Amino acid sequence: MKYIVITGVSTGIGRDALRLLHKKGYYIFGSVRKEADAKKLTESYPERFTPLIFDVQNHDAVVKATKVVFETCDALHALINNAGIAVPGPLQHISEKDFERQLDINLKAVRRITNLFLPLLGAAANFKKTPGRIINISSISGLFNSPFNGAYSISKHALESMTDVYRRELRRYNIKVIAIEPGPIQTAIWQKSLNSMDKYSHTEYNDVLQKADMMIEKSEKSALPVSRISDLILKCLTSGNPKTRYIVHRSKFLFKLLAFYLPDKLVDWFIHRTLTRGNRHRPI
Ligand SMILES: NC(=O)c1ccc[n+]([C@@H]2O[C@H](COP(=O)([O-])OP(=O)(O)OC[C@H]3O[C@@H](n4cnc5c(N)ncnc54)[C@H](OP(=O)(O)O)[C@@H]3O)[C@@H](O)[C@H]2O)c1
Repeated sequence: MKYIVITGVSTGIGRDALRLLHKKGYYIFGSVRKEADAKKLTESYPERFTPLIFDVQNHDAVVKATKVVFETCDALHALINNAGIAVPGPLQHISEKDFERQLDINLKAVRRITNLFLPLLGAAANFKKTPGRIINISSISGLFNSPFNGAYSISKHALESMTDVYRRELRRYNIKVIAIEPGPIQTAIWQKSLNSMDKYSHTEYNDVLQKADMMIEKSEKSALPVSRISDLILKCLTSGNPKTRYIVHRSKFLFKLLAFYLPDKLVDWFIHRTLTRGNRHRPI
């Protein structure tokens, strides 16, 4: 039996990864925060699924809930760090608490959870099983910085760094570490972000923030189905030689042009124009 831990399986990318990987015969330990989600998923997956109930911010609860993983198996095929949130808003006005929460969930918790499972993934001199793989669900926001999405972009840029560092450090154990970098994907994260700019309406940014919800709705329309990411996760698990990072975007070429090749000042101008004139595209 091949065992996989996925964080954040209640909705979205995590939920669909659970669906596909379970169908392919893997045993999934999936994290949720609510008892009700654990119950619902256990009904849907009566076999080869164990819910782990924790909030990634509460590491004592994580350690307690994941004891069952260590009791059930002596090796993990993969750890998929998926749980994440987006805290939009102008960097100037996001509260310290919200900024810290963004970094803690999307970044610091990934390190805590990864370190917890490293012995089961093969980071031990006497490990006799096939080494596991670590897949971090990053974002194109880990490659490109958008205004008013700064806290999220910073968390994902740092996650990209963390992925590279782990990959290079864990090479000695042959543990492959992969970043998946999606653009807009059809999940609840979009709805959760709607109206979240309202609390900044009293600031000098109000004129551009008013467009934010409209842009989110437009992005949602162009978002790719969640199965695109699940299929890619499966590929990362089954390929003999997976890439170190995968961009998933409807217009990959245009995104790469914007992120890697155009001069900064031209991109700054384009973003400014988009925000001030209500262009059709959200700068992501
Ligand atoms: N959707 C996109 O367009 C997109 C694009 C690029 C990257 N991503 C990344 O994909 C990952 C999954 O996001 P998604 O789009 O599938 O959004 P989602 O549907 O909102 O799923 C997020 C998952 O993370 C869990 N989670 C959030 N905060 C948590 C916490 N403190 N402790 C434990 N679990 C927590 C949620 O649990 P609850 O249900 O309990 O809140 C949920 O299961 C994230 O890392 C996100 O940054 C998404």
